[in-house]
Amino acid sequence: MRGDLKLILILVVVCVCFISTDGQGTKASVKKSEVTKKPPNGAGNHIPKPTKSAAAKDKFAEFKKKHGKAYRSAQEEAEARKAYEQNSKNDEKHNQQRNKTYRRGTNAYSDKSHDWKVKNRMGASKKASSPNNKNKAMKKKAGKSLSARMSDTETPEVPDSANWTDWNSPIRDQADCGACWIYAPLAVLEYLMIVIRGDTEANLSEQEILDCNIADGGCDGGWPTDGFDYIIENGLTTERSYPYVAYQSDCFAKRFGKVLIINNTYEEEVSGDEEYLKHLVYNYGPIVVVIYASDSFTQYAGGVFSESDCPNDMDSYNHAITVVGYGTDPDGGDYWIIKNSWGLDWGEYGYGRIARNQENMCGIANYAMMPSSSWISETNFNITNNRKN
Ligand SMILES: *[C@@H]1O[C@H](CO)[C@@H](O)[C@H](O)[C@H]1NC(C)=O
Ligand SMILES: *[C@@H]1O[C@H](CO)[C@@H](O)[C@H](O)[C@H]1NC(C)=O
Ligand SMILES: *[C@@H]1O[C@H](CO)[C@@H](O)[C@H](O)[C@H]1NC(C)=O
Ligand SMILES: *[C@@H]1O[C@H](CO)[C@@H](O)[C@H](O)[C@H]1NC(C)=O
Ligand SMILES: *[C@@H]1O[C@H](CO)[C@@H](O)[C@H](O)[C@H]1NC(C)=O
Repeated sequence: MRGDLKLILILVVVCVCFISTDGQGTKASVKKSEVTKKPPNGAGNHIPKPTKSAAAKDKFAEFKKKHGKAYRSAQEEAEARKAYEQNSKNDEKHNQQRNKTYRRGTNAYSDKSHDWKVKNRMGASKKASSPNNKNKAMKKKAGKSLSARMSDTETPEVPDSANWTDWNSPIRDQADCGACWIYAPLAVLEYLMIVIRGDTEANLSEQEILDCNIADGGCDGGWPTDGFDYIIENGLTTERSYPYVAYQSDCFAKRFGKVLIINNTYEEEVSGDEEYLKHLVYNYGPIVVVIYASDSFTQYAGGVFSESDCPNDMDSYNHAITVVGYGTDPDGGDYWIIKNSWGLDWGEYGYGRIARNQENMCGIANYAMMPSSSWISETNFNITNNRKN
C-alpha cells in the first residue's frame, strides 16, 4: 500500500514538472514542485535543481532573518537583494585572492548600495561646517617639522606599537544617519573620561549635538571639530538623558545638566605624515581622523585593510573615525588600529586595521583632530547626577 502511494506521488511530481517546463502556467506549477519536500530517490532527476539565483535568494533570506530586515515595498526589497548579491559576489571574488591582507564579508548594511552608504553611514563634510571656527587652537602648516611641534612633555621617540582599545568606550552604531563627525570626537572624549577621570560609564549624547549644533548638516554630515566646538560652548549631557534616534530633531539640551565641559579643541593638517600621526597617537591617545571610506572598506571583515580603491589626497574624505593605536602584523605589515561607529558586526568587532606606511592609505594621516586631555574640565562632572531638577 505504502509503496503504491509513493509511486503515485512520484508520478504526480514528475507530471507537474513536465507540464511546468513548457510555457503557460509555468509559475504556479514550478511553485508546486518546489513545495514538494525531499523527493524519493530517482524522482529528483526530473525536478529542476535550485538555480544559482534561488540559492542566492536563500542566502538573502538568511541575511534578512539574521539582521531583522523588513522592507517597505517589493521594489525596496528587490534593490536590497541586488545590492546584497553584488556585495557577496565581490566579497567572494576578493576572498579568493591569496595575496590580500584583509577579508571582506557581510555585515548589517550589505543590502545597501555604496552610494547609499556614503550618504547615510558616513558624514565627514567640510562644506556643511561653520565657516569661522574660532576655537581651533592650532593649524599645523604642511611640512612643519615634528621637533618644532613637540613640547617637552611629549616623547620624541615612540614605541613600535600602541593599543588604547581597552580604555575605549563600547563600539557605537550611527545607524542610518551621516553622524560620524559626532561619533568620532565623542569616542575620543569618552576615552579621556575613562582614562583621565576614571569614569566607569562614559556615554555621551550624540543626539544633543545632532539636534542642537545647527551649524552643520546633521545627518547629512559635518566636520568633527564642530562636535568639540559645540561642547566648548554648551557642554554636553549623557546618552542616557538624551538618547540617539538617528535623525535631527528639535533641541532639548536645556532640559539636562552637563556632564562634560571642554575648553579647547585642536585640529591639524598632518598632510600625510604618518610618522607624525604615530607620535600624536602615542602621546595623546585616540585621535580623530577623516578617511576615504571606499566600497571595499564598507565590506571589510578583518585583517589589514589595503586597497587601491581609496585615494589619499587632502580633498578625498567622506568618513570620520578614531585612530586608537598602531602596530605591525606578520602577514599584513604595519597598521593603524581604528575605532569605527558602524556597530559590532563590521570589521574586527567594530574595530579595524588600516595599512600604515603604505602611502597614507585612504588619506588616514591627512587631518588630525583632538581635544587635549588637560583641556577637559574636571569640575562640574557627576554622571549619576546630571539631570537638572
Ligand atoms: C594579487 O593577485 C591578483 C590576481 O589574483 C593580481 O592581479 C595582482 O596583481 C596581485 N597583486 C600583487 C600585489 O601581487
Ligand atoms: C588591542 O587591544 C585589544 C584589547 O586588549 C585586543 O583585543 C586587540 O586584539 C588589540 N589589537 C591589536 C591589533 O593588537
Ligand atoms: C549608554 O546609554 C544607552 C542609552 O541609555 C544605553 O542603552 C547603553 O547601555 C549605555 N552604554 C553604556 C556603556 O553605559
Ligand atoms: C582650559 O581649562 C584648564 C583647566 O581648567 C586650564 O588649565 C586651561 O588654561 C584652560 N585652557 C584654555 C585655553 O582656556
Ligand atoms: C554624584 O551624584 C550622586 C547622586 O546625586 C551622589 O550620590 C554622589 O555622591 C555624587 N558624586 C560626586 C563625586 O559628587
